[in-house]
Amino acid sequence: MTLLICNTFCLSFLALLATSRASSCRSYCGNITLDYPFSLKYGCGHPGFKDLLFCMNDVLMFHISSGSYRVLDIDYAYQALTLHDPHMSTCDNIALGGRGNGFAVEKWRAPYFNPTPDNVFMLIGCSAESPVFQGFPGQHLPCRNVSGMGCEEYYDCPAWRMVGHKTLGSGYGSAPPECCAVAFESIKAINLSRLQCEGYSSAYSLAPLKVDGAGGWSYGIRVKYSVQGNDEFCRACEATGGACGFETDGVKQLCMCRSFNSTTNCDSENSTSDTMSLSLADALAGFMIYMGMWVMSSQF
Ligand SMILES: *[C@@H]1O[C@H](CO)[C@@H](O)[C@H](O)[C@H]1NC(C)=O
Ligand SMILES: *[C@@H]1O[C@H](CO)[C@@H](O)[C@H](O)[C@H]1NC(C)=O
Ligand SMILES: *[C@@H]1O[C@H](CO)[C@@H](O)[C@H](O)[C@H]1NC(C)=O
Ligand SMILES: *[C@@H]1O[C@H](CO)[C@@H](O)[C@H](O)[C@H]1NC(C)=O
Ligand SMILES: *[C@@H]1O[C@H](CO)[C@@H](O)[C@H](O)[C@H]1NC(C)=O
Repeated sequence: MTLLICNTFCLSFLALLATSRASSCRSYCGNITLDYPFSLKYGCGHPGFKDLLFCMNDVLMFHISSGSYRVLDIDYAYQALTLHDPHMSTCDNIALGGRGNGFAVEKWRAPYFNPTPDNVFMLIGCSAESPVFQGFPGQHLPCRNVSGMGCEEYYDCPAWRMVGHKTLGSGYGSAPPECCAVAFESIKAINLSRLQCEGYSSAYSLAPLKVDGAGGWSYGIRVKYSVQGNDEFCRACEATGGACGFETDGVKQLCMCRSFNSTTNCDSENSTSDTMSLSLADALAGFMIYMGMWVMSSQF
């Protein structure tokens, strides 16, 4: 009986230890869970994702060079983020004046973030001199439908009835179209001031396109993230009970183990500090195991 109680107790204690180790870098903001490669703590997560997310009053904000966005969702399975820009046009509202963020990341961070191929950016009110319309003499405009979403359908939105959409010729040489839909790959940075546009909208499709037109699209920026095939380090670290982070230089990856930091994983001797001190948790776990053995040996 004593043995049973101790075993159950010891097991749950060890399980508790294991979970507390795995989650030492995990954090929450509102109902969004932040796990690798993201983190709210400097030193946790992947170095490509440092100084990126901030939690304010349970609202998770994503901060890049083009501005701040609200994070609506992090999809870890598909490795995608859904962002919201309050200055972005939607089906109900056209926001002009160039106040929208668009989407542009710092050069060093660019490899880690790319709007998904099925995300459409609709540039609104771009000047005829806009780079969007340059460099295509005699060719078609870069404007096109992306995943079945484009400006023709967007013009049917109630927002356009208020602004008054003038049907212009869409050919190059005449006035430029009021709205030009592009995929991110063709432009690489949605910078409204550089592109000389008054505003923009962004929509994405998760499921095969619905038939109910632009009113049924999801408005926001869907961004694919990636650690650039550099997942092995963290997988090995987590498999040995560590939490993935990086050194104070903000570059080198680090595996944070219970009582030491390692440049490889928690099973390796390669700790970054010379002292491998026993933590209180280690000492307690050892004591529990000792107690268990003592009870066992005294019973038989
Ligand atoms: C956008 O373009 C302007 C003008 O070319 C430039 O000054 C600014 O730094 C760019 N913004 C971003 C976020 O790249
Ligand atoms: C968070 O809560 C909001 C409503 O408060 C909901 O719309 C959203 O889907 C939730 N997000 C997640 C990731 O559960
Ligand atoms: C986009 O799709 C709409 C509706 O399917 C079509 O009328 C329009 O010509 C397409 N536009 C472009 C630029 O391909
Ligand atoms: C491990 O590294 C993290 C982040 O640099 C640091 O905060 C922590 O104190 C380090 N732990 C040990 C035991 O050195
Ligand atoms: C420890 O680190 C050194 C260099 O930092 C490396 O050559 C060696 O393979 C590592 N050892 C283990 C067991 O990972």
